[in-house]
Amino acid sequence: MCSVVGYNGPRPCRQMILEGLSRLEYRGYDSSGFACIDSTSKIAQVKTQGGIEQLSLKIAAQQGQKQELNGAIGIGHTRWSTHGVSSDINAHPHFDCHKTTAVVHNGIIENFVFLKEKLQLLGHHFISQTDTEVVAHLFEDELKNQSLEKAVLSVVTKIQGAYALLVISEKYPDYLIAIRKSSPLCLGVSSTETFVASDVSAFAGQVDQVVFLPDESFAIISKSGYHVYNFFGERIYPPVQKSTCTWTAEGKAGYAHYMLKEIYEQKRVIIDTVNFLRSHKSAGMQQLNVSHELIQELKNIHFIGCGTSWHAGMIGEYFMQEIAQVSTQSFLASEFRYKKFFPYPRTVTIIISQSGETADSLEALRLLTASEQPTIALANVASSSMVREADGFLLTQAGQEIAVASTKAFTAQVAALYLLAHWIAYIKGLVTTQAIARAEEELFVAGEILENSIERYKFDIITRIAPQYAHYKNFIFLGRHISFPFALEAALKLKEIAYIFVDCYPAGELKHGPLALIDAQTPVVLFSCLDETIYKKLYGNAQEVKARSGHLIVFAFEHQKDLIALADTVFIFPKVNPLLAPLVMTGLVQFFVYQIATLLERPIDRPRNLAKSVTVE
Ligand code: G6P
Repeated sequence: MCSVVGYNGPRPCRQMILEGLSRLEYRGYDSSGFACIDSTSKIAQVKTQGGIEQLSLKIAAQQGQKQELNGAIGIGHTRWSTHGVSSDINAHPHFDCHKTTAVVHNGIIENFVFLKEKLQLLGHHFISQTDTEVVAHLFEDELKNQSLEKAVLSVVTKIQGAYALLVISEKYPDYLIAIRKSSPLCLGVSSTETFVASDVSAFAGQVDQVVFLPDESFAIISKSGYHVYNFFGERIYPPVQKSTCTWTAEGKAGYAHYMLKEIYEQKRVIIDTVNFLRSHKSAGMQQLNVSHELIQELKNIHFIGCGTSWHAGMIGEYFMQEIAQVSTQSFLASEFRYKKFFPYPRTVTIIISQSGETADSLEALRLLTASEQPTIALANVASSSMVREADGFLLTQAGQEIAVASTKAFTAQVAALYLLAHWIAYIKGLVTTQAIARAEEELFVAGEILENSIERYKFDIITRIAPQYAHYKNFIFLGRHISFPFALEAALKLKEIAYIFVDCYPAGELKHGPLALIDAQTPVVLFSCLDETIYKKLYGNAQEVKARSGHLIVFAFEHQKDLIALADTVFIFPKVNPLLAPLVMTGLVQFFVYQIATLLERPIDRPRNLAKSVTVE
């Protein structure tokens, strides 16, 4: 999973492509590269292990060499390795035997082993371990005796998998080719120039018209414009839309890391999400595109997501069941896709995604669309594929989230789901408009508590608590009922940014195995609940841990004196609506984990091996 950016127009393109790539680095950052057609119609290129910063340094070091990197037709790439380690050689662009064709790719060519062996038998020489290199060699052969269009059609009949490909060739030095199957690709167009990228934000501010290439199509881009074709070779005319995407270079605003800045933005994000949904209530309901009749007769709500978004959905289950009284289930997109699927009557599926581009979630959405099941995208990026492809959508207002580990996007998802549950309850006649207003107020209060609790414990965490826990190798996280999915989310944060192993369990399952792991070297982090019955059960589980000399860190509420007394370390929160317990704990647990990761000198915003938006399976 990677990002691609290309340009064909009158201007030297290197800087614009590098700028576009740096905006898309959330999609991958282990290597990067650039190629262009120079003034002598030859390919000039540079690529390296590492992100755009390393690429820029390499370019600066090459200044004055005979290679010209100033062409006006170019392609660029940032990589998140799938096939082959991160290295200079495996970085894109990839080339044919004579380095006359350059290719960058987001996706996976699934039959590359077969194609590579075949091409090798024909005498092609490969240098990388990637799947992408086969595409360059295929073009080498296909471009020999036929038109550009025919060559593309021939290549796409041979390759299988998902791809957004950009190709330049010395054989056709005036053209840039963009090919799309499954992976997103869009053109940014004006009367004089054409950009192409995995996401609109790459060219936001440069051109304001956008063409989303339909699935299984390609564009031949020249200086005078572009032509789009489907995979049958027929000319097609996808709509030209006004792009609403803007780009502001978000700085860290004085914070050491984007993650810390984003942790502190959460109170604001709750306010923005509530205000936005309040002011757009009628428009918002229209955007959901679900009839009142269907809502009134709703039998099931399904949530689908990956990572943090899956956890938000699991928390949302409790909102929907308790407030809207609809049976609700969450599914992991990567599992959902490969299970036998039975279309459910009177069921709405909500795909939850910060980026709106995660491959597994997007493919799950497509599966549902093909079965004519109503779908809604709950996403943070208005221009994303999911928002465009789902029947309806609901937008969270987290703003741009840059750190790979999700913080404020999660909070915005939970807040939006809480309100959505109230909207559904209202349409079903279960609550009044006052209840909706009360829910909005509760969310504002939760935002206050979220931020205040960071302030309350900040000094202690930095000076004493994080140093105390930073050197443990393993943790166990426990929750029950609504605090279990929250424990999963908290555990994910510790794994992602501190690289500490965490096993996370529903506390009731302790006795069925994990109790064997309890010892003084494995701190147990327990997230309490406000529901009285659940609290009593959780207290029992905490006792089980202490009876085996376990070390207990507790996130509890102020009246939960017994639990508080058992804890070795405790964080205490004021009482809120029981359903919002996870929301008020969110900021503090993120801050605690952040401080541990800082002490361990981890690259907080860009953890190893990860990417913000996983656009391959
Ligand atoms: C990646 C990120 C996670 C994120 C997940 C789902 O794995 O590292 O932080 O939760 O993708 O992303 P989405 O954009 O669909 O919410």
